[in-house]
Amino acid sequence: MLEIENLKVHFPLPSGQTVRAVDGLTLKIAPGETMGLVGESGSGKSTVGKAALRLVDSTSGVIRIGDLDVTKARGRQMRKLRSRAQMVFQDPHSSLNPRMTIRRAVAEGLILNTSLRGKALRDKVAEMLEAMGLPAQFHDRFPHELSGGQKQRVCIARALALDPELLVLDEPTSALDVSVQAQILRVLRSLHEARPELTQLFISHNLAVVRFLCQSVAVMYLGRIVEMGPVDRVFDAPSHPYTKALLSAVPVPEATRRPDRIRLQGDIPSPTALPTGCAFHTRCPIAKKDVCNVQEPPRIELQDGRLVRCHFALGSAPE
Ligand SMILES: Nc1ncnc2c1ncn2[C@@H]1O[C@H](COP(=O)(O)OP(=O)(O)OP(=O)(O)O)[C@@H](O)[C@H]1O
Ligand code: SF4
Ligand SMILES: [Mg+2]
Repeated sequence: MLEIENLKVHFPLPSGQTVRAVDGLTLKIAPGETMGLVGESGSGKSTVGKAALRLVDSTSGVIRIGDLDVTKARGRQMRKLRSRAQMVFQDPHSSLNPRMTIRRAVAEGLILNTSLRGKALRDKVAEMLEAMGLPAQFHDRFPHELSGGQKQRVCIARALALDPELLVLDEPTSALDVSVQAQILRVLRSLHEARPELTQLFISHNLAVVRFLCQSVAVMYLGRIVEMGPVDRVFDAPSHPYTKALLSAVPVPEATRRPDRIRLQGDIPSPTALPTGCAFHTRCPIAKKDVCNVQEPPRIELQDGRLVRCHFALGSAPE
């Protein structure tokens, strides 16, 4: 459904430096699958989501949504992309126009992208809002009259109104109160049953949430995927040292803390000056001198289908 091949998104800075936000990223999400995209702040997660919807231009690489070539889309294909793929952002407050009722917010996309008008349009809007737990008495309210959780449900209703095949959710709960987060997560989880064919890319810092919502997960570090596979395999038996470190950084009760857990040390390097060889070598606890800092690790496929980018993913030293 969503296929990204060797994607690069570079941002030139006025200083002459280049931010390599995404730098050779490859991933594939099957129809109906929800994939989590995790990684530290600045690893390039949002940029991948935005590039998939052409909200930022790619520098090189291929992005396909079904048979649609996103990076080359023009005119009619761009309109097709707008209805096929939708994005929900972290902050629902700034995603909604304060002068528009929520009924209009949901209707707007339908008017632009479909031929629905009059009663059929009103019915569709009401159906979408009600499915998100917002009954009729809310429909003529303005965003400031709603809570953060209600606003985010409006954003999800608006995205789903166009019957997209792909939904990108960029940290949809992290700007909300903890009590409201659970409510949004329940809404998202019920989407699996209501729309089994919907493909989702779920960007998050929260590994527990990814485990709750996603079937697969891709771990990103400095613009690339370092490990990708079924959520249970990656979380229960992480292979890449970075995945291990990320998991060890999750606060867990003392009793369940494993003695082999490692800590993530230091800050993520700047994407304007990527380390040579394996980009993780400056922080990796098992990095091997003259190997990891020199040679780029290949993508290795493990027996369970997982993909890992580390010289030692199979336990042996590189040639
Ligand atoms: N338009 C832009 N111009 C210059 N640099 C940018 C631009 N957009 C993103 N970046 C940089 O690209 C890198 C990746 O940013 P991105 O927002 O994709 O990371 P992220 O993984 O989503 O982080 P977070 O978890 O904080 O949301 C960062 O260093 C960011 O500063
Ligand atoms: S390739 Fe080397 S530096 Fe990179 S993750 Fe593997 S061991 Fe660590
Ligand atoms: Mg982000």
